[in-house]
Amino acid sequence: MKKKDKNRIRIFDTTLRDGEQSPGASLDHREKLEIAQQLAALGVDVIEAGFPIASPGDFAAVNAIAQKVKGPSVCGLARCVNADIERCAEAVAPAKKPRIHVFLATSAIHRKFKLRKARAEIIKQAVASVTYARKFCKDVEFSPEDASRTESDFLAQVVEAAIDAGAGTINIPDTVGYSVPEEFGAVIARLYDSVPNIDDAVISVHCHNDLGLAVSNSLAAAVSGARQIECTINGLGERAGNAALEEIVMALKTRSDQFDDLYTGINLKKIVPVSRLVSRLTGMPVQRNKAIVGANAFSHSSGVHQDGVIKKRATYEIIDPADVGLHDGAELVLSKLSGKNGLRQALTRVGISLNDDELASAYERFIALADKKKVVYDDDLIMIASEQMEDTHNLYTLDYLHVSAGTGTVPTATVRVCKGDELLQDAACGDGPVDAALKTIDRLTEVQGRLIDFSLQAVTIGKDAMGEVSLRVAFGDSVVSAKAASTDIVEAGAKAYLSCVNRHLCKQSEADETAAQLRKATRKKATRKKAVRKRAAVKPSAKKKAPARKRK
Ligand code: KIV
Ligand code: ZN
Repeated sequence: MKKKDKNRIRIFDTTLRDGEQSPGASLDHREKLEIAQQLAALGVDVIEAGFPIASPGDFAAVNAIAQKVKGPSVCGLARCVNADIERCAEAVAPAKKPRIHVFLATSAIHRKFKLRKARAEIIKQAVASVTYARKFCKDVEFSPEDASRTESDFLAQVVEAAIDAGAGTINIPDTVGYSVPEEFGAVIARLYDSVPNIDDAVISVHCHNDLGLAVSNSLAAAVSGARQIECTINGLGERAGNAALEEIVMALKTRSDQFDDLYTGINLKKIVPVSRLVSRLTGMPVQRNKAIVGANAFSHSSGVHQDGVIKKRATYEIIDPADVGLHDGAELVLSKLSGKNGLRQALTRVGISLNDDELASAYERFIALADKKKVVYDDDLIMIASEQMEDTHNLYTLDYLHVSAGTGTVPTATVRVCKGDELLQDAACGDGPVDAALKTIDRLTEVQGRLIDFSLQAVTIGKDAMGEVSLRVAFGDSVVSAKAASTDIVEAGAKAYLSCVNRHLCKQSEADETAAQLRKATRKKATRKKAVRKRAAVKPSAKKKAPARKRK
């Protein structure tokens, strides 16, 4: 029997907006588009693609996603400010299903210290902004920021007013991750009891993970009637992150008996590939023991457990790993004898599409790897393809690396990088081969990074596995992350570092562009003011002349 639509939970993915607010997780335009395409294939209902007023880069990414990504609604975030709403409306306009998401803080602490506004002013501003957003777009979502710490009577008033003004979705955020499940479920239940027009909107929730309760709070809210859950891949997000999409979806699926038969439209087999892609492009590693998508999520190490799983999988496994797109030995598909078409097919299976030029260079990398490794796994392919996509668009790429290191040797690196058509080469000594390589890259690129984090993980199994290096690097105040993999871990470190340099330079040029636009806007404003002053200066003399005319 087909389940009733009233049980369907809409998945609102905010990886590209709140997720990108994770410190160090910046994504460029092309990476956002790639993730958005995969989110569409994953089957999310709404993609929150960014905050268009924040920067020209954010605007361009939201706009490109609105133009190119088919399937989900494409949403942009805006404060309750007309300029934000106009910019957001322009960015999402090309989408088949555009949405504007406006937010305004409502809790006493935010009203008093951040906004310095009384309750009545907040309601007035929320209503004005929802009304204004509706002029551009019929799908408007409103979020009373810090809703979970807002007085319940006031929250109900704001929600009722926003629905009256035309908001079709009301999102209740636990902005600071302060709530606990029973309490948060009760917030939603109270709204259903006290807001007369509540049935005219979809109630959504957006939970942060400061107490590790984001998923539990979201599920409790769903039981109380929420029908949209905002979440991110791998739980990325501001501070401790947001509710993890994969955990929400799999909890609803696995324990539907406990969750009133609620269900989502997510294509489960895409969960692991999308998680890997997001981790790779954001440079944010997934902890090994992370539920559903961690490397250990389906590993059994104790003898008793292994024995049980061999006899009957369900003794210790509540989810079949293949259901979430995790392949076992069967994933091993390619060898150095495989052709380009085989590679294309295998990449398609893991959710990656490359154009012909990208495929040609990815194939070269694949052959080089297949020469070194006996077996090539899906994860190896994902690495090759994403490095390929990165290199196509980056300012610097690694062309050559030689290190000499060992007991009693001064570690030295010689590095050659391509910068467009130029080849730059230099050498330096360091505290070890990695340090020497990174110091040489600093000299070549003339930017000075400070390494904050360096972690190494084997991508696949075996002594010949690719080593994946994840780095966090500070360039002044700006922190960026990146990952790279190679069977040579010094090379992986050098590539990841170069990726960080590229990301930093990209961010910097975006900031320069914003500053230039601001300067242009300020100049325009000044010219307008000058013109107004000129007109004002002309008026009195015109007035003076008038009586003279009268006298005539
Ligand atoms: O956490 C939050 O309150 C938000 C809002 C913009 C929805 O991210
Ligand atoms: Zn948030």
